[in-house]
Amino acid sequence: MSLFDNSEKPIGLASDHAGFKAKQFIIKVLQEKEIPYRDFGAYSDESSDYPDYAHPLAKAIENGECYPGVAICGTGIGISITLNKHQGVRAALCWTPEVALLARAHNDANVLALPGRLLSEKEIYEILMMFLNTPFEGGRHERRVSKIPFSHSI
Ligand code: RB5
Repeated sequence: MSLFDNSEKPIGLASDHAGFKAKQFIIKVLQEKEIPYRDFGAYSDESSDYPDYAHPLAKAIENGECYPGVAICGTGIGISITLNKHQGVRAALCWTPEVALLARAHNDANVLALPGRLLSEKEIYEILMMFLNTPFEGGRHERRVSKIPFSHSI
């Protein structure tokens, strides 16, 4: 079952300038598949700061407006660090379909983070499809994921 099969929610998208081209490619894929999305920017490849787009996406994931998210910067590192400051976000930086599969199956990742400057469109497509089509396994992983929020440690 796909993540988006039973969901009315749009997929949330965010990038900086370095991820803009990859985000446009992902938008084309989602439009072709008639999957709803909401684009939080950036809206051009002019130099910009990834936190300006990551925080609005993270808030939309946390308040349930969007699910899941896809976030892209040059390496995927800055945008995933920013997203993961939000306690309700589990952003997973994925560079192969196998990593995307494990991010969903074991970590119940709710945002796919991608290194836009380091992947081909074919790689992005394969990683995206794996992420969207892999369910969370639950079980022992549910216990581990429940211990991630900072509030669990205090
Ligand atoms: C922008 O040049 C680049 O630093 C940014 O996209 C990202 O890779 C940061 O982590």
